[in-house]
Amino acid sequence: MTDERHAAALPAAQGGEPVLTVVTGGASGIGLACVRRLLARGDRVAVLDLPGMQARMGELGASVSFYVCDVSDEASVRAVAERVTNELGAVRNLVNSAGIIQQRSAPESLDQALWDKVVTVDQRGTYLCCVAFGGRMARQGGGSIVNIASITGSRSVPLHAYAPAKAAVISISQCLAAEWGRSGVRVNSVSPGYTLTPALREAIDRGDRDPADLTRVTALGRMVKTEEVADAVEFLSSGRASAITGIDLPVDAGWLVGAPWTTYGGVPEARAGDGGAASSAGKGGQ
Ligand SMILES: NC(=O)c1ccc[n+]([C@@H]2O[C@H](COP(=O)([O-])OP(=O)(O)OC[C@H]3O[C@@H](n4cnc5c(N)ncnc54)[C@H](O)[C@@H]3O)[C@@H](O)[C@H]2O)c1
Repeated sequence: MTDERHAAALPAAQGGEPVLTVVTGGASGIGLACVRRLLARGDRVAVLDLPGMQARMGELGASVSFYVCDVSDEASVRAVAERVTNELGAVRNLVNSAGIIQQRSAPESLDQALWDKVVTVDQRGTYLCCVAFGGRMARQGGGSIVNIASITGSRSVPLHAYAPAKAAVISISQCLAAEWGRSGVRVNSVSPGYTLTPALREAIDRGDRDPADLTRVTALGRMVKTEEVADAVEFLSSGRASAITGIDLPVDAGWLVGAPWTTYGGVPEARAGDGGAASSAGKGGQ
């Protein structure tokens, strides 16, 4: 990235012109937290989400440009990329957070239509948006893409559609990072751990995920907050990350490092007398 490109990628809060950022799935959960964070640093934000979802954003909905788009539909994505560019100008950052999760199921009983749906939204949808917006960024000489993957993309879990789709999101990010690097486009992924969003809340409420299981194996002993994922996304899409491309950044409260310790009885409890840091982490602090 040349100095000029670097400067152009700086958000308004760092002294540059306000940049335009597109957030898919920005009406809920992690995407919504990203929208808040990016608006706070001074970006102009366009949200791409399903029909009716703008109402879920409450008052924040008025602060963003909302576009109805099914990210798994190529025609819909192409048309919206064209509209956003014509109506709002060049897109500098893309955050792909649109996605759906699945229930645990043995592969023999996993409905193939459901498998197709998960892969189509999570993998194909991410790729389509990358191509539609990233291709323009490459031609305009710079930009940043952050794709929301998942820790399940790096480990074996009994989610036979979702986990492979998220592994593909990590791979797509790496492939496109090399493809567009010389054109000034950085592409990275963020892999959240278990984050209490409407999607995860629904899974917990229907008994498909147990909050105790979700936190027991993490090094920090807790779930992730949406704001913590948004902070990582904001960093990667900022000029502060100007030499970072093709990485996957886990934001997982230490699930990846803690899970293998179950073989040895689990991660240790807080040391006696070590109350400060450990107790605040246990309450979702530091
Ligand atoms: N919550 C977690 O614990 C967790 C963990 C790891 C990764 N993730 C990933 O984070 C992303 C956001 O998940 P979340 O938990 O915030 O879920 P969420 O359901 O709260 O938000 C997902 C958003 O994506 C939108 N969306 C779904 N399908 C779409 C489509 N075809 N086209 C356009 N928009 C669509 C939804 O309308 C919604 O606004 C997903 O990619 C998910 O896989 C979540």
